[in-house]
Amino acid sequence: MANIVWHHTAITKEDRRLKNGHHSAVLWFTGLSGSGKSTIANAVSKKLFELGVQNYVLDGDNIRHGLNKDLGFSAEDRTENIRRIGEVAKLFVDSGQFVLTAFISPFARDRQLVRQLLANDEFIEIYVKCPLEECEKRDPKGLYKKALNGEIREFTGIDSPYEEPISPELTIETHHHSLEQCVEQVIAYLQHQQFIH
Ligand code: PPS
Repeated sequence: MANIVWHHTAITKEDRRLKNGHHSAVLWFTGLSGSGKSTIANAVSKKLFELGVQNYVLDGDNIRHGLNKDLGFSAEDRTENIRRIGEVAKLFVDSGQFVLTAFISPFARDRQLVRQLLANDEFIEIYVKCPLEECEKRDPKGLYKKALNGEIREFTGIDSPYEEPISPELTIETHHHSLEQCVEQVIAYLQHQQFIH
Protein backbone atom coordinates (compact mmCIF):
# COMPACT_ATOMS: atom_id res chain seq x y z
CA MET A 1 0.00 0.00 0.00
CA ALA A 2 1.41 3.38 -1.01
CA ASN A 3 2.91 5.56 1.75
CA ILE A 4 1.92 3.22 4.55
CA VAL A 5 4.56 1.30 6.47
CA TRP A 6 3.78 -1.56 8.88
CA HIS A 7 4.70 -0.52 12.42
CA HIS A 8 6.15 -3.26 14.63
CA THR A 9 4.78 -3.28 18.15
CA ALA A 10 6.96 -3.22 21.28
CA ILE A 11 5.24 -6.28 22.71
CA THR A 12 4.94 -9.29 20.43
CA LYS A 13 2.27 -11.96 20.13
CA GLU A 14 4.76 -14.44 21.61
CA ASP A 15 5.33 -12.16 24.64
CA ARG A 16 1.58 -12.03 25.22
CA ARG A 17 1.14 -15.80 24.85
CA LEU A 18 3.96 -16.43 27.29
CA LYS A 19 2.39 -14.08 29.83
CA ASN A 20 -1.07 -15.62 29.37
CA GLY A 21 0.29 -19.15 29.55
CA HIS A 22 -1.62 -20.33 26.50
CA HIS A 23 -1.78 -20.21 22.71
CA SER A 24 -3.96 -17.75 20.77
CA ALA A 25 -6.14 -18.64 17.80
CA VAL A 26 -9.47 -18.19 16.04
CA LEU A 27 -12.21 -20.70 16.75
CA TRP A 28 -14.22 -20.17 13.58
CA PHE A 29 -17.75 -21.56 14.07
CA THR A 30 -19.63 -21.88 10.77
CA GLY A 31 -23.07 -23.29 10.07
CA LEU A 32 -26.67 -22.56 9.16
CA SER A 33 -28.81 -20.04 11.01
CA GLY A 34 -30.20 -21.85 14.05
CA SER A 35 -27.53 -24.57 13.98
CA GLY A 36 -26.21 -23.48 17.41
CA LYS A 37 -23.08 -21.45 16.56
CA SER A 38 -23.65 -18.62 19.04
CA THR A 39 -24.90 -20.89 21.81
CA ILE A 40 -21.84 -23.15 21.58
CA ALA A 41 -19.38 -20.27 21.10
CA ASN A 42 -20.72 -18.56 24.24
CA ALA A 43 -20.68 -21.76 26.28
CA VAL A 44 -17.08 -22.51 25.18
CA SER A 45 -16.16 -18.91 26.00
CA LYS A 46 -17.54 -19.30 29.54
CA LYS A 47 -15.63 -22.54 30.04
CA LEU A 48 -12.38 -20.99 28.76
CA PHE A 49 -12.96 -18.00 31.06
CA GLU A 50 -13.30 -20.36 34.03
CA LEU A 51 -10.05 -22.05 32.98
CA GLY A 52 -8.31 -18.66 32.97
CA VAL A 53 -7.99 -18.53 29.18
CA GLN A 54 -8.30 -15.05 27.64
CA ASN A 55 -11.03 -15.05 25.01
CA TYR A 56 -13.72 -13.01 23.29
CA VAL A 57 -16.80 -13.82 21.20
CA LEU A 58 -17.61 -12.05 17.93
CA ASP A 59 -21.18 -12.77 16.96
CA GLY A 60 -23.04 -12.24 13.66
CA ASP A 61 -26.00 -10.31 15.02
CA ASN A 62 -23.84 -8.05 17.22
CA ILE A 63 -21.21 -7.19 14.61
CA ARG A 64 -23.97 -6.35 12.16
CA HIS A 65 -25.30 -3.76 14.66
CA GLY A 66 -22.01 -1.86 14.62
CA LEU A 67 -18.86 -2.50 12.61
CA ASN A 68 -20.76 -4.06 9.70
CA LYS A 69 -24.09 -2.27 9.89
CA ASP A 70 -23.61 -1.04 6.32
CA LEU A 71 -23.73 -4.63 5.00
CA GLY A 72 -26.69 -6.76 3.93
CA PHE A 73 -26.95 -10.38 2.83
CA SER A 74 -26.03 -10.30 -0.86
CA ALA A 75 -23.13 -12.61 -1.76
CA GLU A 76 -20.88 -9.54 -2.09
CA ASP A 77 -21.84 -8.14 1.31
CA ARG A 78 -21.41 -11.51 3.03
CA THR A 79 -17.91 -11.74 1.54
CA GLU A 80 -17.05 -8.26 2.84
CA ASN A 81 -18.59 -9.14 6.22
CA ILE A 82 -16.31 -12.16 6.58
CA ARG A 83 -13.25 -10.30 5.26
CA ARG A 84 -13.60 -7.60 7.93
CA ILE A 85 -14.26 -10.14 10.67
CA GLY A 86 -11.19 -12.07 9.56
CA GLU A 87 -9.05 -8.97 9.96
CA VAL A 88 -10.53 -8.23 13.39
CA ALA A 89 -10.04 -11.86 14.44
CA LYS A 90 -6.39 -11.64 13.42
CA LEU A 91 -5.94 -8.64 15.75
CA PHE A 92 -7.38 -10.67 18.62
CA VAL A 93 -4.93 -13.50 17.88
CA ASP A 94 -2.13 -10.95 17.87
CA SER A 95 -3.34 -9.74 21.28
CA GLY A 96 -2.69 -13.24 22.67
CA GLN A 97 -6.33 -14.28 23.02
CA PHE A 98 -8.67 -16.87 21.61
CA VAL A 99 -11.39 -15.30 19.52
CA LEU A 100 -14.58 -17.27 18.92
CA THR A 101 -16.43 -16.16 15.80
CA ALA A 102 -20.05 -17.17 15.19
CA PHE A 103 -20.99 -16.29 11.62
CA ILE A 104 -22.82 -18.34 9.02
CA SER A 105 -19.87 -17.63 6.68
CA PRO A 106 -21.55 -19.64 3.91
CA PHE A 107 -18.82 -19.42 1.27
CA ALA A 108 -15.84 -21.79 1.40
CA ARG A 109 -13.63 -19.28 -0.40
CA ASP A 110 -14.26 -16.55 2.18
CA ARG A 111 -13.39 -18.93 5.03
CA GLN A 112 -10.28 -20.01 3.15
CA LEU A 113 -9.18 -16.37 2.79
CA VAL A 114 -9.43 -15.90 6.55
CA ARG A 115 -7.45 -19.11 7.09
CA GLN A 116 -4.73 -17.69 4.85
CA LEU A 117 -4.48 -14.55 6.97
CA LEU A 118 -3.27 -16.69 9.86
CA ALA A 119 -0.64 -19.30 10.67
CA ASN A 120 -1.57 -23.01 10.38
CA ASP A 121 -2.21 -23.43 14.09
CA GLU A 122 -4.15 -20.18 14.42
CA PHE A 123 -7.31 -21.02 12.46
CA ILE A 124 -9.57 -23.73 13.82
CA GLU A 125 -12.60 -24.24 11.63
CA ILE A 126 -15.53 -25.73 13.53
CA TYR A 127 -18.46 -26.91 11.47
CA VAL A 128 -21.63 -26.66 13.53
CA LYS A 129 -23.55 -29.25 11.60
CA CYS A 130 -27.31 -29.53 11.78
CA PRO A 131 -29.78 -30.62 9.08
CA LEU A 132 -31.69 -27.76 7.45
CA GLU A 133 -35.03 -29.38 8.44
CA GLU A 134 -33.97 -29.32 12.09
CA CYS A 135 -32.89 -25.65 11.87
CA GLU A 136 -36.25 -24.84 10.26
CA LYS A 137 -38.00 -26.64 13.10
CA ARG A 138 -35.99 -24.78 15.77
CA ASP A 139 -36.43 -21.43 14.01
CA PRO A 140 -35.52 -19.46 17.18
CA LYS A 141 -35.97 -16.06 15.54
CA GLY A 142 -38.86 -16.95 13.23
CA LEU A 143 -36.65 -16.14 10.23
CA TYR A 144 -37.09 -19.43 8.36
CA LYS A 145 -40.85 -18.93 8.47
CA LYS A 146 -40.43 -15.47 6.98
CA ALA A 147 -37.96 -16.72 4.36
CA LEU A 148 -40.29 -19.55 3.34
CA ASN A 149 -43.15 -17.03 3.04
CA GLY A 150 -40.99 -14.85 0.82
CA GLU A 151 -40.81 -12.04 3.42
CA ILE A 152 -36.99 -12.33 3.60
CA ARG A 153 -34.95 -12.81 0.46
CA GLU A 154 -31.53 -14.46 0.09
CA PHE A 155 -31.91 -16.46 3.30
CA THR A 156 -29.18 -19.06 3.81
CA GLY A 157 -30.41 -22.58 3.11
CA ILE A 158 -33.62 -21.33 1.45
CA ASP A 159 -32.64 -19.14 -1.49
CA SER A 160 -28.98 -18.49 -0.72
CA PRO A 161 -26.37 -21.28 -0.60
CA TYR A 162 -24.40 -22.74 2.30
CA GLU A 163 -21.15 -24.46 1.28
CA GLU A 164 -20.25 -27.12 3.84
CA PRO A 165 -16.63 -27.19 5.07
CA ILE A 166 -14.69 -29.99 3.37
CA SER A 167 -12.00 -30.58 5.99
CA PRO A 168 -12.77 -28.61 9.13
CA GLU A 169 -10.62 -29.15 12.22
CA LEU A 170 -13.79 -30.12 14.08
CA THR A 171 -17.38 -31.06 13.23
CA ILE A 172 -20.00 -30.73 15.93
CA GLU A 173 -23.37 -32.34 15.33
CA THR A 174 -25.80 -30.34 17.42
CA HIS A 175 -28.82 -32.53 16.67
CA HIS A 176 -27.00 -35.59 18.11
CA HIS A 177 -25.22 -34.12 21.12
CA SER A 178 -26.07 -32.02 24.16
CA LEU A 179 -24.63 -28.53 24.58
CA GLU A 180 -22.31 -29.87 27.29
CA GLN A 181 -20.99 -32.59 24.97
CA CYS A 182 -20.41 -30.04 22.19
CA VAL A 183 -18.46 -27.77 24.54
CA GLU A 184 -16.42 -30.70 25.82
CA GLN A 185 -15.52 -31.64 22.22
CA VAL A 186 -14.02 -28.19 21.61
CA ILE A 187 -12.19 -28.03 24.95
CA ALA A 188 -10.78 -31.56 24.45
CA TYR A 189 -9.49 -30.55 21.01
CA LEU A 190 -7.72 -27.46 22.43
CA GLN A 191 -6.16 -29.53 25.21
CA HIS A 192 -5.13 -32.31 22.85
CA GLN A 193 -3.36 -29.78 20.62
CA GLN A 194 -1.75 -28.39 23.81
CA PHE A 195 -3.19 -24.95 23.02
CA ILE A 196 -4.51 -24.77 26.57
CA HIS A 197 -3.74 -26.84 29.70
S1 PPS B 1 -23.03 -14.20 6.96
O1 PPS B 1 -23.68 -15.03 5.93
O2 PPS B 1 -21.90 -14.92 7.60
O3 PPS B 1 -22.58 -12.91 6.39
O4 PPS B 1 -24.13 -13.93 8.06
P1 PPS B 1 -23.95 -13.45 9.59
O5 PPS B 1 -23.15 -12.21 9.66
O6 PPS B 1 -23.50 -14.61 10.41
O7 PPS B 1 -25.43 -13.07 10.01
C1 PPS B 1 -26.40 -14.07 10.12
C2 PPS B 1 -27.53 -13.63 11.07
O8 PPS B 1 -28.33 -12.62 10.45
C3 PPS B 1 -29.71 -12.96 10.51
N1 PPS B 1 -30.20 -12.90 9.11
C4 PPS B 1 -29.88 -13.71 8.09
N2 PPS B 1 -29.14 -14.85 7.99
C5 PPS B 1 -29.01 -15.43 6.77
N3 PPS B 1 -29.58 -14.97 5.64
C6 PPS B 1 -30.33 -13.84 5.68
N4 PPS B 1 -30.89 -13.38 4.56
C7 PPS B 1 -30.51 -13.18 6.93
N5 PPS B 1 -31.18 -12.06 7.33
C8 PPS B 1 -30.98 -11.90 8.64
C9 PPS B 1 -29.84 -14.27 11.20
O9 PPS B 1 -30.37 -13.97 12.48
C10 PPS B 1 -28.44 -14.81 11.34
O10 PPS B 1 -28.12 -15.20 12.68
P2 PPS B 1 -27.85 -16.72 13.13
O11 PPS B 1 -27.24 -16.56 14.50
O12 PPS B 1 -26.90 -17.36 12.16
O13 PPS B 1 -29.18 -17.35 13.20
